[in-house]
Amino acid sequence: MIEVANLTKRYAGFAAVDNISFKVDKGEIVGFLGKNGAGKSTTMKMLSCFFPPTWGSARVAGFDCVTDSMEVRQRIGYMPERVPLYEDMRVEEYLDYRARLRGVPRRARSSAVNEVISTIGLKDMRRKLIGSLSKGYRQRTGLAEAIVHKPELLILDEPTAGLDPGQIRQVREVIKELGKRTTLLLSTHILSEVEITATRILLIHKGRIVANGSPGSLVGGAQSSRRFRAEIRGPVAMIEAMLKGLPGLKGLSVAPGEEWSVFTIDSDLEQDLRADVAKFVVDNGWDLRELSEEKRTLEDLFVQITTTDEVAPPGAPAPVSTPVAPAPEAPPAEPLKEWPEGGATS
Ligand SMILES: Nc1ncnc2c1ncn2[C@@H]1O[C@H](COP(=O)(O)OP(=O)(O)O)[C@@H](O)[C@H]1O
Ligand SMILES: [Mg+2]
Repeated sequence: MIEVANLTKRYAGFAAVDNISFKVDKGEIVGFLGKNGAGKSTTMKMLSCFFPPTWGSARVAGFDCVTDSMEVRQRIGYMPERVPLYEDMRVEEYLDYRARLRGVPRRARSSAVNEVISTIGLKDMRRKLIGSLSKGYRQRTGLAEAIVHKPELLILDEPTAGLDPGQIRQVREVIKELGKRTTLLLSTHILSEVEITATRILLIHKGRIVANGSPGSLVGGAQSSRRFRAEIRGPVAMIEAMLKGLPGLKGLSVAPGEEWSVFTIDSDLEQDLRADVAKFVVDNGWDLRELSEEKRTLEDLFVQITTTDEVAPPGAPAPVSTPVAPAPEAPPAEPLKEWPEGGATS
């Protein structure tokens, strides 16, 4: 459904999106995760034909986002970070207007509008002025607009940003439902947002894709060792010496306490050292109060990847200045503009 190859967007010598490639299959719910400024919105804007890449390509349903942008626009629903809504229009009037711009034929329009109003849970709001809606309902109106023409692909840029916890829960429920019927690319800087909904996570950091996989495989794949925690009462130096002899040991640290000391034991992935540790302790007549494995979470991985800065070897050019291909027709940097009103989305 989406094919992105070497996609790059540069702003005055700085790569906001730096040579990324990824694919999204039909039916997937992909969480596009990254800290603020990572390049999520820039990528999504290129996918939704808002502006062209500096180089590289983005294709949706086989159509190129630059050369076949009309075909692409018909097939996607895009909800930008800041949803531009007409404050003085009533919800249903606005949705009808947007449906018209999206090319929904006149006779199909009112049923299309009724359908999204019920799907998104806007029934009680349909006659309200958009300007009078709460942030949660405005966001829902934005979602309704994005799907009114029944797109095959839905691109949502931080759909719950700025909502309160109750509204977040409701909008998430709506998104989950939408995920059942369309392919979904959903960006967020909040891990928990995608952990629950996404079947796959694309982690972007400083304009580059740094991880790509199911939440489970990312956690497993990033792990190179297992970590166990043991609280033992006994002579610390002797215990330490014993633990150092364990098979497959990769690291050991001790936090000595008055009575109980905490031993953090890292081992090979294949090794479960718990039985050995328990046996040691008992055989030596010491006491064991806790023995557990510390499971790594997706959050650990996210923090690890997005806080470690890759150190370039001496003399190497900075990553952002090493394009993969020259860009003879690179357009000049352009200022950020609002999604053009009217025609451009139809
Ligand atoms: N119009 C622009 N001109 C210059 N730099 C920009 C422009 N738009 C975005 N950027 C920069 O590009 C980087 C990526 O931005 P963005 O895609 O909005 O990140 P995200 O959506 O992940 O928060 C940021 O460093 C941002 O400051
Ligand atoms: Mg953004």
